[in-house]
Amino acid sequence: MAEIQPFHVMEIWNRAKELEAQGRQIVKMHIGEPDFTAPAPVITACIGALQENPIHYTSALGMPLLRQAISRHYRDRYRLDVPASRIAVTSGASGALMIATGVLVNPGDEFLMPDPAYPCNRHFVRFFEGSVKSIPVGAQTQYQLTRELIEANWSEKTRGVLVASPSNPTGTMIAPAEMRAIIDAVHARGGVVVVDEIYQGLTYASEFASALAHSDRIFVVNSFSKYFSMTGWRLGWLVVPEGCMREVETFAQNAFICPSAPAQYAGIAAFSAETTEILEERRAEFRRRRDYLLPELRELGFSIPVTPQGAFYIYAGIEDFSQDSGKFALELLDEAGVAITPGKDFGANQSDRYVRFAYTCSIGDLQEGVRRIRNFLAGR
Ligand SMILES: Cc1ncc(COP(=O)(O)O)c(C=O)c1O
Repeated sequence: MAEIQPFHVMEIWNRAKELEAQGRQIVKMHIGEPDFTAPAPVITACIGALQENPIHYTSALGMPLLRQAISRHYRDRYRLDVPASRIAVTSGASGALMIATGVLVNPGDEFLMPDPAYPCNRHFVRFFEGSVKSIPVGAQTQYQLTRELIEANWSEKTRGVLVASPSNPTGTMIAPAEMRAIIDAVHARGGVVVVDEIYQGLTYASEFASALAHSDRIFVVNSFSKYFSMTGWRLGWLVVPEGCMREVETFAQNAFICPSAPAQYAGIAAFSAETTEILEERRAEFRRRRDYLLPELRELGFSIPVTPQGAFYIYAGIEDFSQDSGKFALELLDEAGVAITPGKDFGANQSDRYVRFAYTCSIGDLQEGVRRIRNFLAGR
């Protein structure tokens, strides 16, 4: 545990709560979850299920009806054939990541990941006595790994690669041709590929095709947390290559018994036409927020060389304002009442020079946040 770091953003989170308790009104751009809650049809389905069904353990891999619904979702939305037999329902993407790393990592195995990245991913590998080689990435590769970077960093210890598209904290994506090249390069070396697609559906430029379009021999992590606005329900899934389900099931049984049964009933309703209509409206709203916030931040002097195409984050350079993103974030919170996340939560690659803005609040709040940041910067 000495090597596992806590979420630094909790310091901001706690300070924001303290200031609110003192009566201050805080603009919250630090939170990595939709401000929307589960769509009404999902809640109704859950209430109905609680009234009509006894809530017991389910199969470790999840209810067959939900696994089939996820399989249909891949077919209807992404034109992909992903049979329910290759889908394990999990406790969020976190559960899926834990199962994937638990099944794949042996002591001493190394995984390649980009830096910056979602921090838990490297910690999961560490939990299972593996190690992570964090590869610094920047604007020139859209803050993502490329085939070239993977080939240059591959060693005999390397067991595989874990990437996320769209990414947290950058909101950037891996282009389909690059994703295919990455998968081919890793498979050519006998390695495994894990793709975290938790922000799938929350894309604003092109329709996001899953990495599963390129190979059915990869592990793909997904979740109901982000596009489906169901963070607290703790529900996700893992797509598993043919032939690996037995290990996944054994791990899941031992670690979790099963994912939450009420959440699974709710999850089935998350794919209905009625729910999709609500979720697509929300996606349009996230896009409007990004299109408002991005030019405003650029105008204020934050450096954002790559336009984020997905998720709900903007990863912004603060080199014109500060060399210490932790201090900058705390000062911005204390003096201006705007909460953002310092870069050090996402790695060591120049993280002092970056902060993450989450547009998980209304446009009105974003406008107020921008106004406050402008005054804060003018007074420095
Ligand atoms: C890239 C990424 N992966 C996984 C997770 C875990 O999400 P959950 O367990 O809620 O599905 C998060 C949460 O923010 C994330 O940003």
